[in-house]
Amino acid sequence: MSSHSIHLEAVTLVRGNQHVFEGLTLSLRETRIGLVGDNGAGKSSLFRLISGLEQPQQGRVLVHGCDTQADRKQLPKHVGLMFQNPDDQIIFPTVAEELAFSLTARGETRQAARQQAREFLAQRGLDAWAGRAVGELSQGQRQQVCLLALQISRPATLLLDEPFASLDLLSQARLAAQLDATDQQIVVSTHLLEHVYDFERVLWLEQGKVRADGPGREVCEAYAENVRERAAAERGRHA
Ligand SMILES: Nc1ncnc2c1ncn2[C@@H]1O[C@H](COP(=O)(O)OP(=O)(O)O)[C@@H](O)[C@H]1O
Ligand SMILES: [Mg+2]
Repeated sequence: MSSHSIHLEAVTLVRGNQHVFEGLTLSLRETRIGLVGDNGAGKSSLFRLISGLEQPQQGRVLVHGCDTQADRKQLPKHVGLMFQNPDDQIIFPTVAEELAFSLTARGETRQAARQQAREFLAQRGLDAWAGRAVGELSQGQRQQVCLLALQISRPATLLLDEPFASLDLLSQARLAAQLDATDQQIVVSTHLLEHVYDFERVLWLEQGKVRADGPGREVCEAYAENVRERAAAERGRHA
């Protein structure tokens, strides 16, 4: 599919007194895109811009033709963000209510949304989850709720912010398989480079700039090599 199109046009983002991005221009059209880079490089900020949680001071962000500022109401059907920490994302006390919210955000009535949420869980053999209190689920299960909340509303693009970070190996493999199976556009940030190694495109962000942009294998190897060099330099200084 080549209908995906996310465009940042000369975007400047200031958070606090920090210029996170200055005149950043970027087009994201590939179906699988990885995002790597040190803590503080701007990965989460990029996701916040694309999902409309943050507005640029200059420039604009277009997601499948929608301006994230002017066409805010249209955004939920185009893009969904899975936060790094599920507790920053989940608003409602039960799983069914959280899933239903994804649908009301897209314009469904509350009653239809609740009904669809229950059916959606039942189709996945998760009937028992509907009434469960989110607070009683494990971290991995809460993260699963976040992914289900994105999947039920089927935005064209899924943004996943370090989704593998707190998962054990089996849960990582399950999540990777789930992502593999979707036909949606996926942009995923991660420090576990093997998860984006085979992606058609990976961006390496460094201090708000794109340091490298290309096939996953190339960019991951360049970033890993750069990290090894910096670590070696630090060992040298401390020796
Ligand atoms: N809530 C905030 N207020 C002010 N500055 C922030 C905030 N969150 C992040 N930043 C700054 O924005 C920059 C990019 O951070 P972030 O997008 O979180 O990077 P990453 O996700 O790659 O770790 C960092 O320099 C950070 O200090
Ligand atoms: Mg982050």
